[in-house]
Amino acid sequence: MKTRQFGNTDLFITPITFGAWEIGGEPFYKNMPENDSIALITGAYELGVNFFDTAPVYGFGHSERVLGKAIKKFRDKIVISTKCGLCWKENSIAAIYKDASKKSILGEIDESRKRLDTDVIDLYLVHWPDENTPIGQTIETLESIKAQGKIKHYGLSNFTTLQIKEAAAYGSISALQSPYSMMNLKLENSELPYCIENRIGFQAYSPLHRGVLTDKTIEALRESGQPAINWILDSMTVEKTQQVLDIKEVSMSYGVSFASFVTAWTITQPGITTAIIGTTKMQHIKEAVEGTLITINTEDALTIRNIIKEGNEHGQK
Ligand SMILES: NC(=O)c1ccc[n+]([C@@H]2O[C@H](COP(=O)([O-])OP(=O)(O)OC[C@H]3O[C@@H](n4cnc5c(N)ncnc54)[C@H](OP(=O)(O)O)[C@@H]3O)[C@@H](O)[C@H]2O)c1
Repeated sequence: MKTRQFGNTDLFITPITFGAWEIGGEPFYKNMPENDSIALITGAYELGVNFFDTAPVYGFGHSERVLGKAIKKFRDKIVISTKCGLCWKENSIAAIYKDASKKSILGEIDESRKRLDTDVIDLYLVHWPDENTPIGQTIETLESIKAQGKIKHYGLSNFTTLQIKEAAAYGSISALQSPYSMMNLKLENSELPYCIENRIGFQAYSPLHRGVLTDKTIEALRESGQPAINWILDSMTVEKTQQVLDIKEVSMSYGVSFASFVTAWTITQPGITTAIIGTTKMQHIKEAVEGTLITINTEDALTIRNIIKEGNEHGQK
């Protein structure tokens, strides 16, 4: 798979990233056998994917641990992003809290390196803005662990343009990881143009709107009873549900799965460096890879824009 430069860094990454939240299992998703997760990660690598995204909070350490086991044989061929600043007092969603303080990050980085069984993290992200810690303290801490060689680059996740600008006064921000999909274009107003202008790599998360933009039906997604999926289904108004059906209609003539079509669209939008695809199935990784091989023609791209314009205008920041 052809790689792309990640912002202004020396990292060259694939336009699709393996998202390791789902394999983290409970409490966000259903648990899956560790060997199946390892086979999935290996399979993604064998299909050419070289970017893997995880976080300590995904399965409370489980996702990082499994990823670390799976990549041992090809660690030097891939790029890993993981995160800091979301901690937990016990293994429950209610017990998760934000802490991007110096003390927390200095402990978290070594925990992540240990779980991932790797000396250096390629890309280290602040998972969510922490309103209780001055951003200068967070960024100066990231600069210090970068100087120590524990991370290569760092960035932010779920930060607004204003918050990124504040952070950029203290150090060099290489990445933004935030939500972006046909059902959620909010960042096109401000964050994406800012990233383009400042050569910040952008990792689009939830590009499939957690399964809504695939061949799965909303009813089937609801019945799957997984908390992370239920959260996003709340955003699916009657109008948005109709838009999905209309875009599906456009995708029909391409002879690929809807997920492949959506992936192809996402990775060709301005400012998108990579789309992080979360999955527990090899077939779905294949579909993501297939999405990197097709081109959506100009007329269909315009039709899609016209379909989604209306619904997204209401959600602009
Ligand atoms: N920084 C942050 O705050 C943040 C937040 C959310 C996510 N993320 C990252 O982004 C990644 C992806 O985002 P996401 O998990 O929110 O959403 P997503 O990738 O849009 O959707 C994932 C869901 O789509 C399904 N899916 C994937 N490919 C499919 C296909 N071809 N056909 C049918 N269903 C398919 C998966 O189910 P199957 O298991 O059945 O494939 C999964 O439940 C995560 O793994 C994580 O690494 C980061």
